[in-house]
Amino acid sequence: MATGIGRQTPCALLLRTRPALNHALTSLANPSLFSARRLFSLSFSSSSLATNKQHKRGPQPILSLLEIGGVKIGKDDVVRENDPTNNVTDSIFSKIGLQLHRRDNHPIGILKNAIYDYFDANYGGKFIKFDDICPLVSVKENFDDVLVPANHVSRSYNDTYYVDAQTVLRCHTSAHQAELLRRGHSHFLVTGDVYRRDSIDSTHYPVFHQMEGVRVFSPAEWIPSGLDATSYAATDLKKSLEGLARRLFGAVEMRWVDTYFPFTNPSFELEIYFQEKWMEVLGCGVTEQEILRRNGRLDNIAWAFGLGLERLAMVLFEIPDIRLFWLTDKRFTSQFSGGQLGVKFNPFSKFPPCYKDMSFWINDSFTENNLCEVVRGIAGDLVEEVRLIDNFNKKGMTSHCYRIAYRSMERSLTDEEINELQLNVREQVQSKLNVVLR
Ligand code: DAH
Repeated sequence: MATGIGRQTPCALLLRTRPALNHALTSLANPSLFSARRLFSLSFSSSSLATNKQHKRGPQPILSLLEIGGVKIGKDDVVRENDPTNNVTDSIFSKIGLQLHRRDNHPIGILKNAIYDYFDANYGGKFIKFDDICPLVSVKENFDDVLVPANHVSRSYNDTYYVDAQTVLRCHTSAHQAELLRRGHSHFLVTGDVYRRDSIDSTHYPVFHQMEGVRVFSPAEWIPSGLDATSYAATDLKKSLEGLARRLFGAVEMRWVDTYFPFTNPSFELEIYFQEKWMEVLGCGVTEQEILRRNGRLDNIAWAFGLGLERLAMVLFEIPDIRLFWLTDKRFTSQFSGGQLGVKFNPFSKFPPCYKDMSFWINDSFTENNLCEVVRGIAGDLVEEVRLIDNFNKKGMTSHCYRIAYRSMERSLTDEEINELQLNVREQVQSKLNVVLR
């Protein structure tokens, strides 16, 4: 499960809970764990090349060399099975460079463009957009530069993909704030793929997309208002983001909820009343002065926000399962076109799920995220959900029973192939996680 906040929607805002609370919350929600880049240029043609064989079973072929934002990434640099400082899997590597947010006819790209249009229209093109920054970043960029405490749970190997002890696949687009401030940018939007080790269900996927926004003000902007700098920034922030929410969702009811992020103070979440419930749209706040100070902006004030694109796109386009975003099947992709925000997805089929249970005695190092990684490694996107259905203690040992739901988005699965997958899962869960099957 993604760090922190118990069970959340796709782009759970991982970093919002205080570290101490984090442990408590996650272990409550899940007793077993705590939680929440290239020689080929990966243009659309090469990424569709990688995914052409829609009906082929099992994982798709993986390009072994990528280039993103001018950085060359070799598979062997990123995936090293026998290196204990590395926990990136082949299936994660296969997603790097696909950049759904850069496809204008894909729901993620359509939503990104709608948000860009909102900022262009309201700020006369002042916001500079970055959406091809390499997702491999240093631990310093991902955590230290945005003041994530040293003991914060999101830094763990259980929650974050480490390439080595100093390098991670970014777990949020906030990883780029400091450098862009240092480069002198005062208005910017960063969109990118982000990576989090997580459990499996219809709203959680280990790769998803976020957008970060930052606006810096100079004293000449807030002094005439008579407000103190923080109030001025907070007021502007709320006004901008309420406008954005109206642009995306129409005339909805909204509310602001105080929260905590390491990088902002005060920090807020914007919620909207949509389809009869309150839904979190984004996290934001007034940037911690320390971040501005360290990056050459001592006399300024700034606001920042971060939002998860899948989470919003699932609601706006009525897309019921997060795996659908990754389909190259025309029955999915042909339903969306550039500029058409909120066209309702028409499910083309609902194939039957197949459930398999497995029980085992866990050990001290067992985590659900590790289990999910093993299952995904074997079944890929054929796994719909991995759910703890029974948990008991006996003679000092703990037994877990997990129910795995297998279901393809594209076709019916045969008993034979599911049995084979399940057999592999059982074998690897035993050998890789050192648990004792019951
Ligand atoms: N980085 C946060 C996350 O992934 C999201 C976020 C919240 C970004 C508040 C921000 C912000 O810039 O101000 O959990």
